[in-house]
Amino acid sequence: MKVLILGSGGREHTLAWKIAQSDKLTKLYAAPGNAGTAEVAQNISISVTDFPKLGQFVQEEEIDMLIVGPEAPLVEGVADYFADNEKLSHVKVIGPKKAGALLEGSKDYSKKFMVRHNIPAGASKTFTLETLESGYAFLELQKPPYVLKADGLAAGKGVLIINSLEEAKNSLKEMLSGQFGEASKSVLVEQFLDGIELSVFVITDGKNYVTLPEAKDYKRIGEGDTGLNTGGMGAISPVPFADAAFMAEIDKAIVKPTIDGLTKDGIDYVGFIFFGLIKVDGKPFVIEYNARMGDPETEVVIPRVKSDLLEILDLAGQGKLDQAKIEFEDCVTSTVMLVSGGYPEKYQNGKEITKVDTVEDVLPFHAGTTFSELGEVITNGGRVMALTGKGATMNEALAKSFAAAEAVQFDKKYYRKDIGFDL
Ligand code: GLY
Repeated sequence: MKVLILGSGGREHTLAWKIAQSDKLTKLYAAPGNAGTAEVAQNISISVTDFPKLGQFVQEEEIDMLIVGPEAPLVEGVADYFADNEKLSHVKVIGPKKAGALLEGSKDYSKKFMVRHNIPAGASKTFTLETLESGYAFLELQKPPYVLKADGLAAGKGVLIINSLEEAKNSLKEMLSGQFGEASKSVLVEQFLDGIELSVFVITDGKNYVTLPEAKDYKRIGEGDTGLNTGGMGAISPVPFADAAFMAEIDKAIVKPTIDGLTKDGIDYVGFIFFGLIKVDGKPFVIEYNARMGDPETEVVIPRVKSDLLEILDLAGQGKLDQAKIEFEDCVTSTVMLVSGGYPEKYQNGKEITKVDTVEDVLPFHAGTTFSELGEVITNGGRVMALTGKGATMNEALAKSFAAAEAVQFDKKYYRKDIGFDL
């Protein structure tokens, strides 16, 4: 099979690394890819949202499968574009159409979906600038902390948790006045859930699903989970507090009702679903859905998959996921993300990355990397490289990730030294 992976982060390098090991693969491409995907695939300089160019390339190269990494092309309708074009409709697209991607693209839509299908989640109400006064009145009825969530995609920055009522009211007004552009033209005021978070992932063909190993990620820039939110600074899999009984409860109360809900709503969904969950008093609740894999969770989840991932995705594309057999390695994986100094605010690109070849027993998954004109590997983003270690225990895995994080060099490198601290 010929496969094209869309995206350029650590998630896409990890997927490319895994798929490159499949006997079913004849040729692998990444668009646009990074310096890491270039090791296992041919990088193609096409933007993830340039559907006509992607379609033309897929036709010319006779590509059989398109795996969509990030959310933007899904929400903009890449799967619909392929399905609606008679020369592309035979291509298996791993990623939902717009209607399914709305589970991530609109928090208001996903909340209504959860309510409709009795899926446990925090209560919420949605407001616009026209209903701002009702928003203030609603906030007055809530207890602190106040949770404000932008309805649309806001690159992981659209959730504010605020302790003071006055500040919450001001923030509601600012958000609705365009603080996050179009994404915050509608804002949800949501019940605060106090618990511990984890991420669960499935691959589905719309009827059947396979559940991947769960993971926990670390979103804040600072140690002890402090400071600004980032895309993710590290991750661990499995999650020690997610025992078999808790995972069975997640399956019964959340995963199965979600898949059944998609069927009942007539949403044809092929791809990954990422359940952002929180454990409160021993029970799981949904914080959010994403229509893709997590990053950096992919960097710890996929290295634990023993089976041929391409074979499983191929079955998903054929609607035959009930025939899939998936096996996982009984080990712990950890990843530590190296980021550019200044991230998630201002930072500089173009720093040469060295000593990656000196790291031992670690999988270095590239995120924001590219090649300089001289062919050196240089930084090209806030999150630069995820260093994944494997071990029999969490400490063994983390020791490998941290040793590699110390060894790899670039100017103004930063990483959190406390990944896993709370476990
Ligand atoms: N690590 C969180 C995300 O991928 O959205």
